[in-house]
Amino acid sequence: MLENGFHDVPQGKLAMVVTHLEMRSPMPLRDVPTPAGITLRKVEPTLDWYRDIFDRVGSQDWLWYGRLKKSDAELQAILSADDTVFYTLTKNGHDEALLELKFGEDQECELAYFGLTPGLIGTGAGRYLMNHAIHTAWAKPISRLRLHTCTMDSPQAMAFYIRSGFTPYKRQIEIDDDPRLIGLLGNEAGPHVPIIA
Ligand SMILES: CC(C)(COP(=O)(O)OP(=O)(O)OC[C@H]1O[C@@H](n2cnc3c(N)ncnc32)[C@H](O)[C@@H]1OP(=O)(O)O)[C@@H](O)C(=O)NCCC(=O)NCCS
Repeated sequence: MLENGFHDVPQGKLAMVVTHLEMRSPMPLRDVPTPAGITLRKVEPTLDWYRDIFDRVGSQDWLWYGRLKKSDAELQAILSADDTVFYTLTKNGHDEALLELKFGEDQECELAYFGLTPGLIGTGAGRYLMNHAIHTAWAKPISRLRLHTCTMDSPQAMAFYIRSGFTPYKRQIEIDDDPRLIGLLGNEAGPHVPIIA
């Protein structure tokens, strides 16, 4: 049990407040047009493709690092798992978004990763991709769609998820090594979270 008050975070570590959200029945979707110049594409990811989109969507701006720790074999197992599907949005021949849905046991689906590269943010592409995520998840016999977001993610994310029909139900604090101090990311990544070495 954590006491009220301030708690020191060890030098070199990060502290994130993680919020878990869920959707227990399919949210009725507001029809949105496909944003101009965008194509939705299902992907069978290679290691290189996945690492590149993960970096451009999440690592450079938002310090996503979970998948950077994975060896080739570990990541390949995730990418080729039968229960996981991947989508992107393509613009001008470049893939600019990551949607990763993992269908687990107990009729659950996790929105494991969701995000856009900076150029697509605020263009309606996020709503379009979220509609696809909700539709794809609930097309299977699930009873819950869940996700988590943390205080390192875009400040737009929480409100966006709540508007999408997700309800927050649990909050945690996560402490971990700063990925920039253990060689996973360069020092320039995630300027909104300063390095305290
Ligand atoms: C979180 C994130 C997906 C939100 O996306 P976004 O760019 O704000 O999404 P949009 O622009 O589609 O949506 C914002 C709102 O503006 C509307 N909008 C914005 N521009 C629009 C346009 N040109 N035409 C139509 N609608 C538009 C959308 O419909 C939406 O409204 P709604 O929520 O009422 O439907 C995005 O900020 C992101 O990828 N961030 C970085 C990665 C990240 O943090 N991911 C979350 C990790 S958990």
